[in-house]
Amino acid sequence: MTTQTGPRAACLIGWPAAHSRSPLIHHYWLRTLGIEGGYNIEAIPPEGFAEFILHLSAHGFVGANVTRPHKERALALSEPDARARAVGAANTLWYDGAKLRSTNTDVEGFINNLDASAPGWDKASEVLVLGAGGASRAVLFGLLERGITRVHLANRTVARARALADQFGAAVHPVAWDAIGELLPRAHVLVNTTSLGMHGQPLLEVDVARLPADAVVADLVYVPLRTMLLAAAEARGLRCADGLGMLLHQAVRGFELWFGRRPEVTPELRALVEADLTKV
Ligand code: ATR
Repeated sequence: MTTQTGPRAACLIGWPAAHSRSPLIHHYWLRTLGIEGGYNIEAIPPEGFAEFILHLSAHGFVGANVTRPHKERALALSEPDARARAVGAANTLWYDGAKLRSTNTDVEGFINNLDASAPGWDKASEVLVLGAGGASRAVLFGLLERGITRVHLANRTVARARALADQFGAAVHPVAWDAIGELLPRAHVLVNTTSLGMHGQPLLEVDVARLPADAVVADLVYVPLRTMLLAAAEARGLRCADGLGMLLHQAVRGFELWFGRRPEVTPELRALVEADLTKV
């Protein structure tokens, strides 16, 4: 439901909300598709979030992206789909008539990026996922939805891996962090969802030489764009899916819901965001 009469606009709600690449992505699509519309950043503190979201339309928006620290409350304050419920967080909101609906586009961002970067990846019989935080939930949901039947979930705090595995059922096997080495030879897809390798964080030390020759490596970290994990995997000739690809692919659905056209992740868009990332 929208009460405004001017061009449609969406926004990103966060606290703090600076340094997001979402405006760059959505403005690129608005421009190249010739759509008159807007995408703003709204820095909203936790105490103002419920009011803002419950009157999103009155604030001038047809929908929104939601980022830290609001994703769990966005879920509670809207009508989430199965993906958002399973992930326990909503990052994209839109109106369906008067209803404010929500989803979690990290799931399709992850899966569609893998499809684009490493077609056939889903033939993998075993997948190894590192990390058991919020990002890992979206990855696990996407893998299982796609039909992967065996996922090893390694986390520094193994209790967190166990708790997450319990929510996803028998296909997800929690393992201790020091079991990674012995699982690598069976991992046809390796996914890093931890913050290791991110600018300012410790490096992720994984011996990619132990992965199968046809393995696919995905890293959700995109600052730096080429993490040490991806550089090592590429040097071995393995196919890779990087965090920037996931970021771009996860933005597609929101744009489509708000502005009515499904945009594409083009090499030009990638180059534009890549140039912005290297300014850091
Ligand atoms: P997100 O929502 O991005 O997934 P998160 O919920 O804070 O963020 O999860 C961060 C992940 O990175 C967790 O799996 C965390 O492991 P713990 O559950 O043991 O904290 C992992 N992580 C962060 N720093 C780490 C480190 N130094 N070594 C191993 N794992 C680390």
